[in-house]
Amino acid sequence: MVFPLIVANWKLHKNKQEAAHFLSELLPHVGHGQEHLYLAPSFTSLDVAAQISIPHGIKIGAQNVSEHLEGAFTGEVSVAMLKEIGVSFSLVGHSERRAHYHETNKAIRQKIQQLTTHGLTAILCVGETHLHRTSNMTQKILSEQLQEGLKGLDPEFIDQIIIAYEPVWAIGTGHTATADMAQETHFMCREILKELFGENLCKKIPILYGGSVNENNVKELLSQPDINGVLVGGASLHVSSFLKIIKHSREIHK
Ligand code: PGA
Repeated sequence: MVFPLIVANWKLHKNKQEAAHFLSELLPHVGHGQEHLYLAPSFTSLDVAAQISIPHGIKIGAQNVSEHLEGAFTGEVSVAMLKEIGVSFSLVGHSERRAHYHETNKAIRQKIQQLTTHGLTAILCVGETHLHRTSNMTQKILSEQLQEGLKGLDPEFIDQIIIAYEPVWAIGTGHTATADMAQETHFMCREILKELFGENLCKKIPILYGGSVNENNVKELLSQPDINGVLVGGASLHVSSFLKIIKHSREIHK
């Protein structure tokens, strides 16, 4: 049986102490091989989160990473620095980074190369805006983001790629895509990946849904055939709501 992936993106929330407190409340209830949990705290909480969580089988990741390994790049953090403290994945190309920090598909591709060649997993975030959707551009945008982000990826690294489909209009807004709409778009992403990597390899890439996932909608979303997990922002900040999401995920048998 394959458990869905549950990824928490804490964004700019929780200092070290708050992260440790959250984990001390969460850990007694998880980590017995009943779920695949990934947690992306802020950079300053990564070390403590890794020390506490990794022994429980929870993967710790960054929300961003530099496309460079070292050099005169003030304010950046490299893959090697992350790896040193036990980090095993990074989000890449989150829509907030694309929008607020002008992250380009080229930079995203370089970040994915850095991560994969150093043995880490890249969670590539893609998604259309409301305007894209209403002007029938969803497929075009997703194709561009997936093709540009994954261009030149050596198929030997395919197991280190996870896609998170996050419609921009659903992030932090409370407007989740309906399960049908999400399934339809996940299928679209799967077809694009098939064109890129072929039928067999594309099946190895999990596609997560993100955007206002909560304890009430997670089960229906995870029941869709092409939704392999969820990327959770707001609802991952409180132990009670996050635990409910995790418990629902355990009821999904695929
Ligand atoms: P949200 O955020 O669950 O608060 O909508 C998801 C994300 O941005 O990853």
